[in-house]
Amino acid sequence: MLTNDQLAQWDRDNFMHPSTHLGQFARGEAAQRIVTGGEGCHITDRDGNRLLDAFAGLYCVNAGYGRTEISEAIAKQAHELAYYHAYAGHGSEASITLAKMVMDRAPDHMARVYFGLGGSDANETNIKLVWYYNNILGRPQKKKIISRWRGYHGSGLMTGSLTGLELFHKKFDLPLSQVVHTDAPYYFRRPRADMSEADFTTHLVGELEALIAREGADTIAAFIGEPVLGTGGIVPPPAGYWEAVQKVLERHDILFIADEVVTGFGRLGSMFGSHHYALKPDLITIAKGLTSAYAPLSGSIVSQRMWDVLARGTDENGVLGHGWTYSAHPIGAAAGIANLELIDKLDLIGNAGRTGAYLNTAMAAAVGNHRNVGEVRGEGMLCAVELVEDREKRAFFDPAKGIGARVVGAMLKRGVIARAMPQGDILGFAPPFCLTEAEADTIVEVTAESLREVLG
Ligand SMILES: Cc1ncc(COP(=O)(O)O)c(C=O)c1O
Repeated sequence: MLTNDQLAQWDRDNFMHPSTHLGQFARGEAAQRIVTGGEGCHITDRDGNRLLDAFAGLYCVNAGYGRTEISEAIAKQAHELAYYHAYAGHGSEASITLAKMVMDRAPDHMARVYFGLGGSDANETNIKLVWYYNNILGRPQKKKIISRWRGYHGSGLMTGSLTGLELFHKKFDLPLSQVVHTDAPYYFRRPRADMSEADFTTHLVGELEALIAREGADTIAAFIGEPVLGTGGIVPPPAGYWEAVQKVLERHDILFIADEVVTGFGRLGSMFGSHHYALKPDLITIAKGLTSAYAPLSGSIVSQRMWDVLARGTDENGVLGHGWTYSAHPIGAAAGIANLELIDKLDLIGNAGRTGAYLNTAMAAAVGNHRNVGEVRGEGMLCAVELVEDREKRAFFDPAKGIGARVVGAMLKRGVIARAMPQGDILGFAPPFCLTEAEADTIVEVTAESLREVLG
């Protein structure tokens, strides 16, 4: 067997990692971990560490690690039919069955699901479908997409543009000109401290209306948003936000894309964020929780009103010129079926709601009064602790101090993986849905100890 040192050297010399400081990594100055296994909420590595993964990978291993029901379904599919494409009406038993299972779970007004590989490509598909839709309807000028600052929708050319985080734009010549951003629904960072949540919602809706007026409603095709802001800071919306935003979109005939890559299939304790917040989207993006990341698979769920126009479009123009070689890959589909069955059988969505509420309450009780904790917030199995230099003044730390990353580093030494969210000093938690109360207690204790270590 290769030694750890050999593998580590190969890693530094050959492997260009995503979302990594390339220079530091190649020089051996940045963190490196070679992961070997996982069971429940824990992963193990080649150095013999067993870590409680309080972020479920990248909030995707929703069913937990080591589920033989899913790995055996993958193996069986690989033996029977590892691959066939889905072009020109081809399918496999697995991809057709999964499409039925997804549509059975989706909100009633949705009509079809298109399968891709990851969240980014699913959102690229969504934007192409939106543009196609408006071309079929004879309004070729209605093409711009509104996204929110701090939204995360992927890191492709279009999806990186939709993403409202500076790191994903800087030096990449993004965002593309078809994308415009509006304010983040981030109550803790509201412009005036004396605003109520309702005031803040009114303010956000005013900003959205002003943006639409500036650009012209006849140039705006769609609005994209995550039901709960994820990578931008794990921020549930302020009271009344979605109801008010949807009214604006309807009034201006702007399509609504709900990006449920994180919230889809149970993370909020409901099947979809669209159920949780009474959303009526035209497109729903799904990925991560569809297979619990046991195999790459994503999807775009299309509403009936869009489907009717898309179908008409192909009557007028011929075959839809869009598809990936690996669309609806049978191995991904087999993983999706086994995963969704397991989630139902074990009531993992119920557990995400119950144990998520327990985690959020325990976290708020343990660290909510720390002088550097500005806010503890969450929804379902999502939780965030936002760190500030001064609570009263809502003054943030100098980002160069890397306070959030230092606390996450202190947690790792104690065996718990949290995520330092990329913009702001925000500790993010999104454990697998099978989290127990005892594991939630460990996450909370380790957070409190690590905060004391770094900030006193
Ligand atoms: C809400 C949301 N949309 C899209 C994506 C992009 O998904 P992927 O990384 O699979 O391309 C992510 C990834 O974290 C996400 O959180």
